[in-house]
Amino acid sequence: MKPIKLIITALISVCIGGCSSQKELQADAAIENKVDSLLNQMTLEEKLGQMNQLSPWNFEDLAKRVRKGEVGSILNMVNPEEVNKIQKIAVEESRLGIPLIVSRDVIHGYKTIFPIPLGQAATFNPEVVKEGARVAAIEASADGIRWTFAPMIDVSRDPRWGRIAESCGEDPYLNAIMGTAMIKGYQGDSLNDPTAIAACAKHFVAYGAAEGGRDYNSTFIPERVLRNVYLPPFKAAADAGCATFMTSFNDNDGVPSTANSFVLKDVLRKEWKYDGIVVTDWASALEMVNHGFCTDGKDAAEKSVNAGVDMEMVSETFIQNLKQSIAENKVSIETIDNAVRNILRLKFRLGLFDNPYVATPQTVKYAEKHLQTAKTAAEQSVILLKNENQTLPFTDKIKTLAVIGPMADAPYEQMGTWVFDGEKEHTQTPLIAIKKMYGDKVKVLFEKGLEYSRDKNTAGIARAVSAAHQADAVVVFVGEESILSGEAHSLANLNLQGAQSQLIKELAATGKPVVTVVMAGRQLVIADEVKVSDAVLYSFHPGTMGGPAIADILFGKVNPSGKTPVTFPRMSGQVPIYYAQHKTGRPANPTEMLIDEIPVEAGQTSVGCRSFYLDAGNSPLFPFGYGLSYTTFEYSNLSLASDKLTAQDTLSISFTLKNTGKYDGTEVIQLYVQDKVGSVTRPVKELKRFQRVTLKARESTQVSLSLPVSELAFWGYDMNYTVEPGDFTLWVGTNSAKGLTKDFSVSAL
Ligand code: BGC
Repeated sequence: MKPIKLIITALISVCIGGCSSQKELQADAAIENKVDSLLNQMTLEEKLGQMNQLSPWNFEDLAKRVRKGEVGSILNMVNPEEVNKIQKIAVEESRLGIPLIVSRDVIHGYKTIFPIPLGQAATFNPEVVKEGARVAAIEASADGIRWTFAPMIDVSRDPRWGRIAESCGEDPYLNAIMGTAMIKGYQGDSLNDPTAIAACAKHFVAYGAAEGGRDYNSTFIPERVLRNVYLPPFKAAADAGCATFMTSFNDNDGVPSTANSFVLKDVLRKEWKYDGIVVTDWASALEMVNHGFCTDGKDAAEKSVNAGVDMEMVSETFIQNLKQSIAENKVSIETIDNAVRNILRLKFRLGLFDNPYVATPQTVKYAEKHLQTAKTAAEQSVILLKNENQTLPFTDKIKTLAVIGPMADAPYEQMGTWVFDGEKEHTQTPLIAIKKMYGDKVKVLFEKGLEYSRDKNTAGIARAVSAAHQADAVVVFVGEESILSGEAHSLANLNLQGAQSQLIKELAATGKPVVTVVMAGRQLVIADEVKVSDAVLYSFHPGTMGGPAIADILFGKVNPSGKTPVTFPRMSGQVPIYYAQHKTGRPANPTEMLIDEIPVEAGQTSVGCRSFYLDAGNSPLFPFGYGLSYTTFEYSNLSLASDKLTAQDTLSISFTLKNTGKYDGTEVIQLYVQDKVGSVTRPVKELKRFQRVTLKARESTQVSLSLPVSELAFWGYDMNYTVEPGDFTLWVGTNSAKGLTKDFSVSAL
């Protein structure tokens, strides 16, 4: 099989730093001049100072160090008066007056909290995601923050890992599209705009593959998988002009990312021509001593900068040791100069030299427009997993509604992980929203049943059941408190915590229609709860406006359109389970016998020798890309302009999409491709395109998609990025497990 070599270098933009026009290229040349002339004036100590990022606990200590030029950036200062005060010291009292970059983890909103990134990914709507990041940037920059540590674009295939909440899910393409949208939103049209904040693609790289889903654990990802699965979102981020990258905590195949010169230098700098800042994660330089990879802080500093790191977050090994390392020729001055160049370049691009201060006071936080944008994002992020007998939306037959559960009125919990600045007083919960927005239509009986998601005390369940008996329908809000997901919050048990399962089952036993709404930071194992519920909505922690969004969905003002950005397992033991798995030599048949069907004393090979779990089977509870609507959609007439192509061609696909139900609705159409035979085994299918299509009831439309064949390239046996000629299958459909299909072939030129 002769691979079709693509000339990818020619495709790499000359101006990956984000400039697009001739004018901006000239501006960049001007910036390079300024960077060089400033660099020429700097002492070695001042250079190392620029490479030092601190999280201050004491203003006076910080002020002293800023004055001496020992700090290039700070994180976690959010009071604008204080920010201006420290900036003034940097600009007016340090020898060269170099401004600080003030940074913060603004992950899914600053004050107005948007759905967690996993929920944003469920919208399959990059526009809404971009808008969310824009709102976050406007609110954060009003407090002087000009750098956020987001987006996190770690491909995440293991819900035991709490940080899956911060990711855009299991798929490289979805992470690439959503990450790019966030970068555009944070950075705006130009970094120079005072409301622009520098984005940070993190964590570079493979952090999401932590063994066993335990945070900070080692990863073992070979280069080919790295390039085919984990690197593409980061490549997209570099191409989108993401101003900074952050190294990850994990060691991959024995090399901690903070000292991995292969990814930091060979890939990021040389192949991708990246000229932004590479910052370590929090103390990840010094932690290489814990890894047993460095003898001490000095060794850690040397290994980090020699691998291509520019700035160290908080552990101060650079500033403490690199002067000596240079004297000993263990680090070159060119290495230091390059790092400082990257840092100064960003400060100039952000306009900090001309405009170092933030205007106070500001009125943008929780602006009505921001709340509305957050509501739209929350609406589109909610996934309808089940809707038997059209339980939803509630009709006017429902006069009394029992609102139950520990997440119904939990303003802090529904904001989700990584919320340092959003205040729960601004959160609108489902209980409040239902009462406020639909209180004239239904009488609401509220019973928590359980105090919080982990509550094992079942004393309140009887009251919840009694409320259910008095109601025409029940909506029960369960899930996870925000502390159960996010950094360092891994779980081995993915079932609903506490007595939540019992609560749902006892409510279902009343015979009343039960709608279960799960608010969580990951996909949980909810097979039993889905079985006993009439309808199920899944809402990854939806943020400030989650309540109104869910209320409008329950009552039919909004038709749900979210899709799963991750595969939902039937049992925890199926994890990691993801749709793009490779083809095995012994795929399971749909007819495999499950554990209870196996006769006693069955012969060793009688169950078939297939790749299969006897107890859980292979299929997920819900596949990637799954989500229902109050209406139904029909796909038909799939056709290809040509089914015989070369690597230079573009695949043109068209099909008819019809809304066959009685509600207006939005479908996320999805295109998947399978490369049937490769020089290495390939995924069973890969997402290549998606699009939200809105249709009125009974309306139909012709959908056209085009996919350059070059996008079927992958890193094959010879580690070349190529499209291998041969046969392919494509699917268009409503999720990764269903769709119309056609074959096509790609021939060598
Ligand atoms: C996290 C990063 C975060 C940093 C700064 C670390 O513990 O891994 O994602 O940006 O802290 O708060």
